[in-house]
Amino acid sequence: MANKPSPREVILFPDKLSLSHDAAHRFISLAAQKVSQRQDFNVALAGGSTPAQLYSLLAASPFYEAVGDWAMVNLFFGDERCVPPDSPDSNYHMAHSIMVPAAKKVFGVLPLPAEGGIFHRMPAELPDQEAAALQYEQTLRRHFRIGPGEFPRFDLILLGMGPDGHCASLFPHKPALQERERLVVATEPGLKPFVPRLTLTLPVLNNAANILFLVAGEDKAEALARVLTGPRDPQGLPSQSVLPTDGTVTWLVDREAASRLSPVR
Ligand code: 6PG
Repeated sequence: MANKPSPREVILFPDKLSLSHDAAHRFISLAAQKVSQRQDFNVALAGGSTPAQLYSLLAASPFYEAVGDWAMVNLFFGDERCVPPDSPDSNYHMAHSIMVPAAKKVFGVLPLPAEGGIFHRMPAELPDQEAAALQYEQTLRRHFRIGPGEFPRFDLILLGMGPDGHCASLFPHKPALQERERLVVATEPGLKPFVPRLTLTLPVLNNAANILFLVAGEDKAEALARVLTGPRDPQGLPSQSVLPTDGTVTWLVDREAASRLSPVR
């Protein structure tokens, strides 16, 4: 019997920097719990631009050391644009190019393996996107040691939210939103960059132990108010459907993004 979805928590920050610092503290707290017990810490990273500041913080002092042994940290991706891994539009490129040099600069060594290792990127550059989705699905099944009908349980999934209320690459009214069996699917373009995507599916997101939304900027204000306080519209506002059956969902939002939220009475 799935537990009742845990209550959603929304936390307001004055700006993106303070939001990113809080997210870093949450990341290292969850990571240290697992790594200190010599257990893998399995994360799905968010793409887009909002999490870049968080990734910089995690690859530098004091957060980098606080994680402990990064070899126990597995960085997967919530979604990826179907572009080469060295493209400026690649979510892998964004996260990898921020974290690896930062760690090297501060620690002199390259504690984050430069290739492979803790980064498990989606092979979204493959010409056959369906095959790429299936390949990543197999990667997840092997890593989490799960069989048909089972879903991976990430310790943490980081998500951003688009101005249309999408998360990962689950765009409003697109077929990917209806998927309830596959772990990873290919989807048509949604917002910029208008390229096909690979995305984790909703059942994977909702099987996570912890979900952390990072939402900043005035351009998210209307969608955030609709997602958090508007009528249920799971097809039109995919982020509304992210409610882990046995996990937490926490929204870290900055003042600009929260500007349309009615003040808590
Ligand atoms: C992507 C992301 C996407 C992103 C939101 C917010 O591939 O674009 O995974 O879901 O998180 O669109 O993007 P920003 O952080 O750039 O506003």
